Amino acid sequence: MTEHAFQLHHGNAACTVNGSGRPLLLIHGFPFDHTMWQNQIEPLAEHCQVIAPDLRGYGGSSLAQKDAEQGVLMSTYAEDLIAVLDQVGVNEPVILCGFSMGGYILWQLAKRFPERVKALVPCDTRAAADTDDARAGREKMASTVAETGTEPVVEAMLPKLVAKHTLDARPELVEQVSSMIRGARPAAIAAAQRGMAQRPDMTDALAEFDWPALLIGGAEDAISPPAEMRGIADVLPQGRFVEIAGAGHMSPLENAPAFNEALLAFVRSL
Ligand code: MLT
Repeated sequence: MTEHAFQLHHGNAACTVNGSGRPLLLIHGFPFDHTMWQNQIEPLAEHCQVIAPDLRGYGGSSLAQKDAEQGVLMSTYAEDLIAVLDQVGVNEPVILCGFSMGGYILWQLAKRFPERVKALVPCDTRAAADTDDARAGREKMASTVAETGTEPVVEAMLPKLVAKHTLDARPELVEQVSSMIRGARPAAIAAAQRGMAQRPDMTDALAEFDWPALLIGGAEDAISPPAEMRGIADVLPQGRFVEIAGAGHMSPLENAPAFNEALLAFVRSL
């Protein structure tokens, strides 16, 4: 594994690169970092070049000064990722795998930089914009997190992030997810919440996203439920949905063997 610290125009970006061959970019969700892919990186690196960056503000990557106040747009995260790919030296089109907020970023990356895309793997994500209520909830968290710290974020998010049986019977996994949230910087949480609140509805644009596309989602995902993921797969010209049994929103962690099997079969089919 190689760990990079790249200098981008706004600050530094941390990124791990593993394996060789066809490039696969893993885009983490909110409010996590690249370690959410810990069960994917090594098995996938046997087949591809796995590039797993920390998004702006998360893990080893820094925020710009006004990010918390103004929010980081999904298109800005996408531009950062293109800069990271350039610094890794990736010129060929990449397989984009984006989890949840990483999926929102994946749509923007594909829209703005279509020549950099080989295939899409949106996981546990949505194409719709927020409702007014959801936007208000994000603003509330963004404006209070600096004061309250991350514990209320853990409490608010955890029951929606994992399936009920994970919550009841898998304390180690619950602790792993909780500690990633706990460790996130309040400013990065505010920046992402304000950025996600501004994200556009991509539903109508998806008919033009004519790439091989595998959608993966937990059968018990309460944030991006299977029916909604299936709806996205139906709109994407080459879309197909695989439902992961025994998993909520955190399907790459809750059922890594099934998640990896689906992703690897797709990668091999390209
Ligand atoms: C995520 O997992 O990235 C978030 O739940 C996405 C969101 O808040 O919409």
